[in-house]
Amino acid sequence: MARFILLGPPGAGKGTQSVMIAEQYNIPHISTGDILRANVKAETPLGVLAKGYMDRGELVPDSLIMDLVKDRLAEPDCEKGFLFDGFPRTVPQAEALDAILADAGIELDAVIDIRVDEDELLKRMTGRRVCRQCGAPYHIVNMPPKKEGVCDLCGGEVYQRADDTEETVKNRFKVYNEQTLPLTDYYARTGKLVPIESAGGPKDVFEAIIRELEA
Ligand code: AP5
Ligand code: MG
Repeated sequence: MARFILLGPPGAGKGTQSVMIAEQYNIPHISTGDILRANVKAETPLGVLAKGYMDRGELVPDSLIMDLVKDRLAEPDCEKGFLFDGFPRTVPQAEALDAILADAGIELDAVIDIRVDEDELLKRMTGRRVCRQCGAPYHIVNMPPKKEGVCDLCGGEVYQRADDTEETVKNRFKVYNEQTLPLTDYYARTGKLVPIESAGGPKDVFEAIIRELEA
């Protein structure tokens, strides 16, 4: 059983690492960003509400996120454990998650915190491409798909996210520093924080994470 949270600034590689960690531990990868983007695409009531916040690089209100997370955690695959990517993102979300887990009588195993400096993040995000169908992440220089514009995994269209423009990215950093960075202290107090300096490519970072988790 493995129950993990993956913290880190926009573009840190949360999505990239989540795919590998979820496979390693055979647990579902739950990205609130991916779930929101799927809702925006399908124009659901949640998607319609969330779109403006996401396009501006702001956070979607906590109440909407908590409804989404509660529904997702109730699905049977979460009995095997889970890996949250991009959730929680505010102290109220972390407190609400603690209450849900306490009610269920379960505990987190580790909170992985990926650290990368801002210049590197900006390069990663403006070069990022994503599969519209399965969400697999790519980078035009560091991790291009084998065939340009086509996902290696599912053959879907590889595109640039609407919130990956330089201006929105800068706002996402600001929002991260103000609202999400305090979670580092929050989880450090629980003794479950696993800091990872993102040195090297995706595979090097993955190996560093597994070394720490298995230590
Ligand atoms: P979300 O989708 O979570 O975006 P984010 O946190 O800004 O993070 P990203 O997905 O941009 O980056 P990542 O860390 O996954 O990096 P990736 O692996 O792609 O959220 C989007 C929006 O949804 C938010 O702004 C908000 O509005 C809303 N939202 C979501 N969750 C919410 C919540 N809980 N509460 C409220 N609102 C919420 O990697 C980036 C690039 O770098 C890729 O191109 C990749 O190939 C490359 N790369 C990765 N690792 C490496 C490496 N080691 N070396 C070189 N390149 C690398
Ligand atoms: Mg992501």
